[in-house]
Amino acid sequence: MNGVMREKKIIVAIDGYSSTGKSTMAKWLAREVGYGYVDTGAMYRAVALFALDNGLIDGDTVNEAELVRRLPEISICFRPSPDGRNEVWLNGRNVETEIRSMRVSDKVSLVAAITPVRRDMVRQQQAMGKEKGIVMDGRDIGTMVFPQAEMKVFVTATAQVRARRRYDELRAKGDTDVTFDEVLNNVIERDRIDTTRQEGPLRQADDAIVLDNSNLTIDEQNECLLAWFKKIVDQCQ
Ligand code: DC
Repeated sequence: MNGVMREKKIIVAIDGYSSTGKSTMAKWLAREVGYGYVDTGAMYRAVALFALDNGLIDGDTVNEAELVRRLPEISICFRPSPDGRNEVWLNGRNVETEIRSMRVSDKVSLVAAITPVRRDMVRQQQAMGKEKGIVMDGRDIGTMVFPQAEMKVFVTATAQVRARRRYDELRAKGDTDVTFDEVLNNVIERDRIDTTRQEGPLRQADDAIVLDNSNLTIDEQNECLLAWFKKIVDQCQ
């Protein structure tokens, strides 16, 4: 990809439903073309973890006023691990593993639906991408964060396929308590909250390319992505 790296840098916005493998494909593309990568879901997860650890969530109720008041206390950054992966740090602590737990997954949509939280995250994400040369994945990247992104991909797959992927991932990490139905319900509930919230709901940008990967292998999907990327970069010269 050396040819591409010398050319004009673009913004790649990858949005879509949870557990569609957005992060895996975004990370792969970023590495392949020498771009930076930002997992915006990890930022919302870090805010949810902060809220949980500070007793700001009771059942399905978030103490919004207090969380918003304490937003300036929340410092989120990405740092490379010794093996080169980008990991999330919250207030000086590596929380990469903790933010992927069911404890956080269960509450993150509630936190991500709070307008001042979203505005704060969007502002930080826009700052991270201002030099371009970045692949960012999330739910509102092509619609709210970078509506002018040169490349927008909207990734989708059936809820069953997505739940199976998340379930296998959790089992592989040693989470043996969780059942498939719990994971499926979590996927469906998060879809509902993500698509119906007022601020920055998950929706396909009019100019996004749709990628349904229910029946694609990772190699096939990466091949499509790279071909689109090259075509768009060529058109931008
Ligand atoms: O991609 P993920 O599953 O790690 O995202 C975690 C949650 O954060 C999910 O409920 C959707 C929400 N999210 C969001 O609202 N906006 C984004 N840009 C990224 C994630």
